[in-house]
Amino acid sequence: MTSQSPRRVIPIHPEAPPRLTAAELAATQKACAALKELPGALLPILHAVQDELRYVPKDAVPLIADALNLTRAEVHGVVSFYHYFRTEKPGRCVLRICRAEACQAVGANALEEHAKRSLNVDFHGTTADGAITLEPVYCLGNCALGPSVLVEDRLVGRVDAQHFDELVAAVRGAK
Ligand code: FES
Repeated sequence: MTSQSPRRVIPIHPEAPPRLTAAELAATQKACAALKELPGALLPILHAVQDELRYVPKDAVPLIADALNLTRAEVHGVVSFYHYFRTEKPGRCVLRICRAEACQAVGANALEEHAKRSLNVDFHGTTADGAITLEPVYCLGNCALGPSVLVEDRLVGRVDAQHFDELVAAVRGAK
């Protein structure tokens, strides 16, 4: 009689465990627990996580997928589809420039160029001092008063280069 050693099952591609901070983990778990039973729960969960953390950590994707019985690719696809969701921690202030048509017609393109040049970042970039993350947005409902900018939650209209610089200086001065 031959003795047989028990078979060991070794995963061929072990998944790396999620690397989340305690705050990231807590925010993700809280959002999943509170909202996962909603129809179409994915978007409400992503919004709740971003509302709390200001971004949706990449490593939260597997947890959200498991909670909703979705694939990671499905969750990742939604996160990357919507410009609104960001996966990196932003600067202290998120400054959004409207790129929609009505604002473009009154100077938003020039404002965008000025913003990128003066901050030395592209869209979705954060200034070297960590003060400002620059993002595009597509209509802020302020079309008659363009170019429109959202400074965190504050809507500002008729923004030209000089006004933009003043907004940036105010953000930097409010450390
Ligand atoms: S097009 Fe810019 S606010 Fe509507």
